[in-house]
Amino acid sequence: METPHIYVERTLAIIKPDALHKAEEIEDIIQRSGFAILQKRRVHLTPEQASDFYAEHYGKLFFPSLVAYMSSGPIITLMIAKDKAISYWRELIGPTNTIKARQTHPECLRAIYGTDDQRNALHGSDSFSSAQREIRFFFPDCIVEPVATGQAAKDY
Ligand code: TYD
Ligand code: MG
Repeated sequence: METPHIYVERTLAIIKPDALHKAEEIEDIIQRSGFAILQKRRVHLTPEQASDFYAEHYGKLFFPSLVAYMSSGPIITLMIAKDKAISYWRELIGPTNTIKARQTHPECLRAIYGTDDQRNALHGSDSFSSAQREIRFFFPDCIVEPVATGQAAKDY
């Protein structure tokens, strides 16, 4: 009998250019926090690709420097899975601004690995729909639709 596949929530994590030298250590923390790393890519975004990825922020004052930063060097993108992966990963990375995060959430990953209010080491999808979009952005061949528990699914 075929083993039923069970859907586990996935999210997209990015190790940004300022934290790339700590990638192994961060991946280790991700796994020790109960996530499975299902896919991994090292990429160097062009400014156009970085603009596409952050399109929701187009027009904001920080957009040009965000795009320059995200295309300044290689990044590691990870599709990670766990029960409630989206909210749990956001909680683990902590507040957006590393400087503030160091004061309020000193144990969070952005406080530890980030640099300043923009170079904050890590990205995490903020909702189910952004996780779907962002996983497709980097891993277009991966199925991200939920599959009912107990129902046989295709391999992914
Ligand atoms: P945002 O989606 O608001 O934060 P998060 O990454 O926590 O979802 O912003 C996207 C990135 O843009 C953020 O990680 C860092 C950068 N950024 C700035 O450089 N200045 C800002 O004032 C904000 C809000 C974000
Ligand atoms: Mg965001």
